[in-house]
Amino acid sequence: MWIIANWKSNKTIAEALDWISQIGPQIPKSEKLRVIVCPTFDALSEVKKAIIVGNFPLLVGAQDLSPFGTGAYTGEEPVQTLSQFIDFVIVGHSERRQNFGETDEMIAKKVVQALDNNITPLVCVQDENTPVPEGCKLVVFEPVFAIGTGNPDTPENADEIAKKLKEKYGDGLEVLYGGSVNSQNVKGFISKPNISGVLVGNASLDAEEFVKICKNCAL
Ligand code: 13P
Repeated sequence: MWIIANWKSNKTIAEALDWISQIGPQIPKSEKLRVIVCPTFDALSEVKKAIIVGNFPLLVGAQDLSPFGTGAYTGEEPVQTLSQFIDFVIVGHSERRQNFGETDEMIAKKVVQALDNNITPLVCVQDENTPVPEGCKLVVFEPVFAIGTGNPDTPENADEIAKKLKEKYGDGLEVLYGGSVNSQNVKGFISKPNISGVLVGNASLDAEEFVKICKNCAL
């Protein structure tokens, strides 16, 4: 079961460390639970350090990465430097597709970068027709209408899309759901047979609420 906090463009380093110190000791220690936090790039180093020092059951992810490796690509974050801190990366979020012109081709390149460097990519898909790049074993179904609106999809529909994705790409594909997930509705999604976890935006910013989400998933 994956529970992933996507902070998007939020939290200073001080706020990030405060969150880690509150969350860390409260994450249920369970073999089947993989809890990941995805801060802004500038907080990655401090967040990673705090997790190691506290010995917390938390992994670190990035929210994006460069489609290129190291070299002359001003402003980009290559996987080779990110991998100092991360085990995991979100790729192709609909906010990047909408606001930064990210295309399926760029997303496929980013997935290659991640896989070649032993970083697990989580590809965001908007429905069962969004292409999933080769080698990608983890996707998240995030319908645009449900993102940041307080209006989640139904667990039944999310499960149906997850099932279609598995039919298309094989049973080895794990599918998560994202879009207005909170501590009240998370169980409805994770109890569905084709859904392997959740990607949480707004509700992950509040440490107490995020702990509740984790505890509800561990039950
Ligand atoms: P919200 O949980 O704020 O709807 O965001 C979902 C999302 O985009 C996670 O990546």
